[in-house]
Amino acid sequence: MLQKIDEIYTDFQKALSQLKDQSEILNLKSQYLGKKGQLSEVLKSLKDVTDEQRREIGPHANKVKQEMNELVQQALRNLEVEKINEKLAAEREDTTYLDSVKSEWTPTGGVHPRTLIQREIEDIFLSMGFEVLDGPHVEDEFHNFEALNIPGDHPARDMQDTFWFDTKEGEKKHLLRTHTSTIQVRGMLERKPPFRFIAPGTVFRCERTDASHEMCFTQLEGMMVGRDISVSHLIYFMKTALQEIFKKKIEVRLRPGFFPFVEPGFELDIRCLICQGKGCSVCKQTGWVELLPCGMVHPNVLKAGGIDPETHNGFAFGLGLDRLVMMRYGIDDIRHLQSGDLRFNSQFKTY
Ligand code: DAH
Repeated sequence: MLQKIDEIYTDFQKALSQLKDQSEILNLKSQYLGKKGQLSEVLKSLKDVTDEQRREIGPHANKVKQEMNELVQQALRNLEVEKINEKLAAEREDTTYLDSVKSEWTPTGGVHPRTLIQREIEDIFLSMGFEVLDGPHVEDEFHNFEALNIPGDHPARDMQDTFWFDTKEGEKKHLLRTHTSTIQVRGMLERKPPFRFIAPGTVFRCERTDASHEMCFTQLEGMMVGRDISVSHLIYFMKTALQEIFKKKIEVRLRPGFFPFVEPGFELDIRCLICQGKGCSVCKQTGWVELLPCGMVHPNVLKAGGIDPETHNGFAFGLGLDRLVMMRYGIDDIRHLQSGDLRFNSQFKTY
């Protein structure tokens, strides 16, 4: 009987290999594996053999049956693939004629140098565990001033003169944000410490424009809040980030600086990379460029952000992105950045 089963299997394989049609394959399947099929007929006589033979023949017959079923499935799948390939071959278009058509030059855009640097800095801070946040350009007084320890009568408001929206009596006053520090407030209110984030974005001020001032410019805010954070953490993160950005050791100096939202506050300056410290219009002939105001977050700011200054503290910084771009690429006038002049922009194309 074993021999018979093997013969049936061989015959089946031979027959199957000749077939190229779905219904023929299904017919063959029922001829062999159907109720009255060849294999089933043989298996019926299993009842006439001894128990010992049955134990040998039974599993073998089942294995053959399973293999035959698999071969049928495989043959059907092959047929499908062949059909698809035939269809693809029939629908193939000859496009070689396009080679002879002279292609027109299409100018493609590039990324603005400020965007390039912004992306790079985001990557650097992401790698140090910071989140990247965004915030609205149109802000209210609370986020832009009050929560940052700048009340209505504070002289620091004059340092950041900006564009106010007309407001009816009793309505919240809105303005174009003067700094990205607004996102410190939003970031604190939305999360629980410890946290660290950066927030790049455009800011607006009533400025008289010159080689280093624009009305509309870009900052990158940063904040880290936790327990027992010190000035040395601040210096470590700032130095590490700046060395990564400039890809070399740079000379920095720290001076005390006043900002209502930090205490103590600092000005971190870097040696001017345009004139190497000799003095030029960008560094106002001083050899140093004010790049990074920073400090330890003022307790009032933490409170406004819903954080207890008795248990938590932190540092914050505001990086001038435009200055950074100018240092990196040796650009001597901030107004080039917004000029839209293609002779300027196309120098930074990145493909
Ligand atoms: N918001 C300040 C400005 O635009 C910059 C700044 C200073 C941000 C100190 C900070 C900081 O986070 O700690 O002049």
